[in-house]
Amino acid sequence: MRKRKRKRKMEGALWLLVVVVLAVVLAPAESAGDVKIWPMPASVSSGNKRLHLSKDFELLTQGTGYNDASGILKDGFNRMLAVVNNGHVVDGNFSDKSSLLSGLHALQYGIDESYKLMVPSPENQAYAHLEANTVFGALHGLQTFSQLCHFNYKSRVIEVHMSPWTITDQPRFSYRGLLIDTSRHYLPLPVIKNVIDSMTYAKLNTSFVPDMVVINCCSYAQKRGINVMAELDVPGHALSWRVGYPALWPSNYCQQPLDVSNEFTFQVIDGILSDFSKIFKFKFVHLGGDKVNTSCWTDTPCISKWLKKHHMNESQAYQYFVLRAQNIALSHGYEIVNWEETFNNFGNKLGRKTVVHNWLRGGVAQQVVASGLRCIVSNQDKWYLDHLDTAWQEFYMNEPFANITNSKQQKLVIGGEVCMWDEHIDGSDIEQTIWPRAAAAAERLWTPYDKLANDASEVTGRLAYFRCLLNQRGVAAAPLSGPGRVAPF
Ligand SMILES: *[C@@H]1O[C@H](CO)[C@@H](O)[C@H](O)[C@H]1NC(C)=O
Ligand SMILES: *[C@@H]1O[C@H](CO)[C@@H](O)[C@H](O)[C@H]1NC(C)=O
Ligand SMILES: *[C@@H]1O[C@H](CO)[C@@H](O)[C@H](O)[C@H]1NC(C)=O
Ligand SMILES: *[C@@H]1O[C@H](CO)[C@@H](O)[C@H](O)[C@H]1NC(C)=O
Ligand SMILES: *[C@@H]1O[C@H](CO)[C@@H](O)[C@H](O)[C@H]1NC(C)=O
Repeated sequence: MRKRKRKRKMEGALWLLVVVVLAVVLAPAESAGDVKIWPMPASVSSGNKRLHLSKDFELLTQGTGYNDASGILKDGFNRMLAVVNNGHVVDGNFSDKSSLLSGLHALQYGIDESYKLMVPSPENQAYAHLEANTVFGALHGLQTFSQLCHFNYKSRVIEVHMSPWTITDQPRFSYRGLLIDTSRHYLPLPVIKNVIDSMTYAKLNTSFVPDMVVINCCSYAQKRGINVMAELDVPGHALSWRVGYPALWPSNYCQQPLDVSNEFTFQVIDGILSDFSKIFKFKFVHLGGDKVNTSCWTDTPCISKWLKKHHMNESQAYQYFVLRAQNIALSHGYEIVNWEETFNNFGNKLGRKTVVHNWLRGGVAQQVVASGLRCIVSNQDKWYLDHLDTAWQEFYMNEPFANITNSKQQKLVIGGEVCMWDEHIDGSDIEQTIWPRAAAAAERLWTPYDKLANDASEVTGRLAYFRCLLNQRGVAAAPLSGPGRVAPF
């Protein structure tokens, strides 16, 4: 805590003043146990008073030194208002105006996603404060604020219940990902954009797309505080490369992995990563490396001859390929993510900037961080959304630090990612396959460990409430009862 304060002073702070008109509404008794925010913030205190939002509820940023030239904040604020208004006719009685505007302080960009949100009690000031070191922290604060707002159908105003609020918040893990697979079934851009919007509601911040269709989505996602990581999966999973480059298959009969003996293979990888670096500004690129079956290399005479000449057997050639691709990515300024097969086969040879992406089973993160490499957790038994039989409770309980107690090693677990492989989904059912289960994992990745429920049943009510909120915002989140994508009853 002390450390954070000092940091905040150094970096300066962004102050947003969000204006609320105070209501004369009598304070109905509201119990503190009713905090419905998802994911649960690091620290929350609330009261029992109601406020209502001014008709011209506005965002003020003057005096911060932050000019919002790119409009990220203003757009984020407008999106927040839109989901709060949610199509309701807000025409209640606004005749008692006691709104108050205030000044702002400085902002500096950082990598910090923390924020502090204060909503006053009615007898105090007439505005809410949102403080953040970065615009991305501020976007998270706006999301939390949106969850405090409720439309009152009787008075037809938007209310903030349980004021005053003081919320200080920051994520537990910096990498909170959702993989969207656009390669098996085509996902139309509007569908991807909806998914990106819904990710912000649950404070996920990285969207991982093993395909290039999403180039269009990059700036859309960036403006919402979501990084897009692209995957160039080599040397396996590369059947389609032949469309452009027939020479990259070992032969017409044996089609993958990519031809390790051909210099042109690496020239093409270099060209693609060079193009990536102009579009995907995220510091990581995913180089795959999974499910490599090397029999085409040994079965194709010219490649087999090449292997012999270079004194490599097929597993050494696999290592050679992955490490060479890593070096190409490094030369384009990327840090690398590779699937865990690379670690399982030659972990001690991987570049030190490698992040190992776990998927096969639990317990791998433990080995990865013990070897000094970083890890992203996605064990398929718990965090694969295409496994419909994995219920939200299992998503919630999957702990990235399982069996990792050393704090130095814990720091190497940069986060986790739920994966929406799309062999069996498309635009018609992707949302209900992702939600609410991805939200369960999102809380695991956001909320401090000691505030997480030890028993998932403790959060059922709050998650059901969040799922309803998603529905209200037009996201087709499935009910909580039963496995993934269960139908309502
Ligand atoms: C609006 O509220 C004010 C103050 O509470 C009250 O005096 C006034 O009659 C109300 N107007 C309407 C149209 O309800
Ligand atoms: C998550 O997103 C925020 C905002 O873009 C960023 O500051 C943070 O570093 C991200 N985490 C990772 C792993 O990139
Ligand atoms: C590897 O590929 C060969 C030839 O394509 C195939 O016959 C073999 O069954 C594959 N092995 C595995 C484990 O998939
Ligand atoms: C390849 O060679 C290495 C080093 O000699 C050896 O450890 C490994 O078992 C070999 N792998 C195969 C599949 O032959
Ligand atoms: C953690 O260790 C326990 C005891 O060895 C084991 O039963 C459990 O499966 C491990 N969990 C993971 C995720 O590796």
